Amino acid sequence: MKETILEMEKYAEEYNVPIIEKESIAFIMKYIKLHNVKRILEIGTAIGYSGILMASVAPDITLTTIERDEKRYLEALKNIKKCGLEKRIEVVFQDALEANLIGREYDLIFIDAAKGQYIKFFEKFSHYLSPNGTIISDNIKFHGLVGNTSEDITKNQRSIASKIEEYIEFLKNNKEYTTKLLDIGDGLSVSTRSENETR
Ligand SMILES: C[S@@+](CC[C@H](N)C(=O)[O-])C[C@H]1O[C@@H](n2cnc3c(N)ncnc32)[C@H](O)[C@@H]1O
Repeated sequence: MKETILEMEKYAEEYNVPIIEKESIAFIMKYIKLHNVKRILEIGTAIGYSGILMASVAPDITLTTIERDEKRYLEALKNIKKCGLEKRIEVVFQDALEANLIGREYDLIFIDAAKGQYIKFFEKFSHYLSPNGTIISDNIKFHGLVGNTSEDITKNQRSIASKIEEYIEFLKNNKEYTTKLLDIGDGLSVSTRSENETR
């Protein structure tokens, strides 16, 4: 598996596929272990890098991951098979906002897809969260552009950064959840239901 992970890191660099920073996935893997997370939902598979690493924390973890880009979806399937994880990782080829997961429940939901849609992802998928579950979102700093008011950034970058700023406000104002913003990698938010604040 180690070799496949290294190959994936190379592939991501060569083909410009955004994958999670090492520090962030290390934090999430530790979190999974510490909180005995067993069922994971990931929004944004890319080539399967973070999904494979999350599922590899323990042999009884299952993971559903959603990807809308066909090339990446096929690449993820290939990588998951190479790691022998095809029985534990289900890859759904669909736009996450159209996915139907009725009847499912997850202990951890990892949001790592289109940055402009984080509020929609949170609102849709929080219904699938177990009572003690956690929602983690990546790229909360958006490469240092969140909170950056300089004029050097492009219109598109500013628009995405604004969406993430809106998401942060949404999380802060969401009384049902308590959110911690962590300065790890590109920034992670960790949201747990407010009655479980001891986490
Ligand atoms: C940052 S990458 C995911 C990286 C991956 N989690 C990792 O760290 O290895 C985001 C992925 O989300 C996918 N994506 C974006 N919006 C989506 C949506 N609405 N539904 C499904 N996939 C989406 C993109 O095609 C892209 O491959």
